This record gives sequence, structure tokens and C-alpha cells, in this order.
Amino acid sequence: MSNDLINHLKFYRDLGFKELDIPVSIPPPAAESVEASPVVAPPTSAAQAAAVKDTLQIIQDDIGDCTRCGLHEGRNKIVFGDGNPNAKLVFVGEGPGADEDAQGIPFVGRAGQLLTDMIEKTAVGEGITVKRPDIYICNVVKCRPPGNRAPEADEMATCGQFLERQLKNIQPKAICVLGATAAKALLNSTIGITKMRGEWHEWNDIPVMPTFHPSYLLRAYNKEAKRLAWEDLKKVLHYVYD
Ligand code: URA
Repeated sequence: MSNDLINHLKFYRDLGFKELDIPVSIPPPAAESVEASPVVAPPTSAAQAAAVKDTLQIIQDDIGDCTRCGLHEGRNKIVFGDGNPNAKLVFVGEGPGADEDAQGIPFVGRAGQLLTDMIEKTAVGEGITVKRPDIYICNVVKCRPPGNRAPEADEMATCGQFLERQLKNIQPKAICVLGATAAKALLNSTIGITKMRGEWHEWNDIPVMPTFHPSYLLRAYNKEAKRLAWEDLKKVLHYVYD
């Protein structure tokens, strides 16, 4: 193997790529050429993107034992995401809470139980066959913010690259963003969730429905918010599964 090729492959390895999904053909050396001339033009970024297929596993491996922002200091487990890698519907929350941090799985605490019930019971009520394992759930930040505070802008920016790759890899038919932080991360919204919810928005040509965060719905006085969130969820489920 030529040094050029070896260096080229090392470059991809250092970027975190584990596989190339196009065959690389190396032309035979020209019989009479004396001086080596470059046979493979340096790849353009479009060619690189076409050549290397991102996967959820590659993204998770790239995150590794992450120390890119301060959130790593207090975390127990990185909460990457959970569910069907080919899901037609993805839910995006804010960041892990205590239960998620302990288990490494998103939305497994009280808010998660409510979210699971909302999805599964609404689906049954609407005659749609979908269970939690059919969808994919992840968060804007993958490590628990201390005391469950909202993630800071720099933490969201650092972790946002992985959320973007997750969503681009899954390519769902629709995304449901839970609460103001997730809405801000994907839609860069400056208006509140109360004004945004219930209407379709768009991220990279994928329809996005913002709705209330389940933690907000757990508060007893939020009966009306619950009703609205159920309406939003019905819209999402019918759009994706009808
Ligand atoms: N709240 C979130 O935003 N995400 C979780 O995973 C759990 C609670």
C-alpha cells in the first residue's frame, strides 16, 4: 500500500470513521511512468460525505468518554439515546435527569413514564399501533446538568453536533421536540413553547412539532397544558403513522 493511501486511511481513522462504504479502486501503475504522480485527487467534502456512512454506533463511539464540556464532571452515565434506529418518529428532550443519569437511558424517570404512557395510550386511543420501542428518544445534551438546571448555550452547542448527526442518520418522518430547550436547539426559536406548540415547524426538511415537556405536565396545575400536549401528540402520530 502506498504511503499516500496509508496516510489517507489514517486521516479517516483519526476522524473517527470505522468503515468506508464504497469500494476504493487503485489504478495499476502506468507501465512506463518514472515519476509517481498523484492518482487519487484529494477528496472534496461532498465526496467524503458520500464515501462514509455515519451510523448511531459511530456517533456514540465518537462521543466516547466525553469531556468536551463541564457537564461530564458530574455525570454517571452518558445518555446517548434509545429506541429504533430506523424510527419514523423521534422525540427530543432537554437533558438527562437523575434516573437517566443512573441508567444511561433517556426518559426512564417520572417524566419518562408519563411520556411513554402518553405515546402508547394516545396511539391505542387513535387506533395506531406504536409502542415506545418503535420510536427513538434522545436529548439535546447527553450528560445530566447539575440539579437538573437547563443546559447552557455552550453545552448545547458542544453536544448539538451529536444530536444533529443522530437526526440526520435516523431521518425520521417527523420530530417532536419536548419543551423550550429542545425547541430552541432545533428551531433556534426565540418565542416561548406556549406560542410554538401545536404548529408544524421544520428542521432540515423534516417536520418538527414542539410541545410541552412532560416534566412540566407533571405539575398538578397543568391540566390545560396536558390537554394541549395530547392534541399535539395526536397530530404527530396521525401524520407519521396514517
Ligand atoms: N427530561 C429530559 O429532558 N430528558 C430525559 O431524558 C429525562 C427527563
